Amino acid sequence: MNLEELEKLKAESIAAAQGATDAAAIEQVRIRYLGRNGLIPAVMKQLRDVPAVERPAFGKAANAWRTAFEATLRERTDALAGAGEAAGPAFDFTLPGRWPQAGSIHPLSQVVSEVARIFARIGFTVADGPDIENRFNNFTALNTAPHHPSMDQSDTLWLDDDLLLRTQTSPVQIRAMMARKPPVRIICPGRTYRRDTMDVTHSANFHQIEGLYVDTKPVSLADLKATLAYFAREMMGEGVGVRFRPHFFPFTEPSVEVDFTCHVCGGKGCRVCKQSGWIEVAGAGMVDPRVYRHVGYDPEKVWGFAFGFGVERIAMIKFGVPDIRYFYENDLRFLEQFA
Ligand code: PHE
Repeated sequence: MNLEELEKLKAESIAAAQGATDAAAIEQVRIRYLGRNGLIPAVMKQLRDVPAVERPAFGKAANAWRTAFEATLRERTDALAGAGEAAGPAFDFTLPGRWPQAGSIHPLSQVVSEVARIFARIGFTVADGPDIENRFNNFTALNTAPHHPSMDQSDTLWLDDDLLLRTQTSPVQIRAMMARKPPVRIICPGRTYRRDTMDVTHSANFHQIEGLYVDTKPVSLADLKATLAYFAREMMGEGVGVRFRPHFFPFTEPSVEVDFTCHVCGGKGCRVCKQSGWIEVAGAGMVDPRVYRHVGYDPEKVWGFAFGFGVERIAMIKFGVPDIRYFYENDLRFLEQFA
């Protein structure tokens, strides 16, 4: 072996390293030149057979070969890794897995389902009606005076002279009574619309649940109160009291506003209930005879009550939600609390 031959081997080894196109090929070249039986160690071993005068030059050349070859291998390895990264990161088997995000039922839907379950136990079924109503079902049949302010453009979202987005779920009462004979025992959950400005407690699109019980035997205000007291206990827990305050609705007579004892202070008086101990939750009353006439019932032969409340309001009280807007923003941090 002389210097000339060494330089030739060196050139070959570097060409081989440069020609390697993947990690396996690089490894093969490395083994061929640097492995235990590789060419470079073999040449190093021949060093002692080289005549002493030539030995330093030969040794130096052999070392230079090794260094140059190793540098070429490193370059190739780096270049291939760079190309791999550009094609996409290597799959890391040690990373924790990604769990599929399971959805959950919206808190307002949870309240609607629970209300339906509670009333189902005392014989109420769920009735449905359209969001787009006509003047008759939403106002006239509900005994609303022709120029009542609630019919104003500023309160109601009218679609034309007759059609509107229902302002309450009460029109479903009318539909139910026109479609069937008493006894009628229904609750009607649904969307309602009013020309309101969004704030902490108001939304232009909210949800109500209407209740209606009409029978051919006497039904009294006491039955209404017992029904709502049962509902209050089932929905809010034992010990929740109910009180009626006189009020006015066109379609009920007498009419009442319904209060539950304050969920925060239990009736002692606090900031939430404005020191009164009570929270207003619903409107209710005995169905007005004029409403019976509108739907073709004989007011002398039927008795009944109706009530209605806001789903958001019940949900805010039950879950302690301070702002109605949380229900509509679909922020997962909010929704996940109800999973
Ligand atoms: N519809 C009434 C409202 O939106 C509530 C109500 C329903 C009152 C049924 C009495 C009877 O305010």
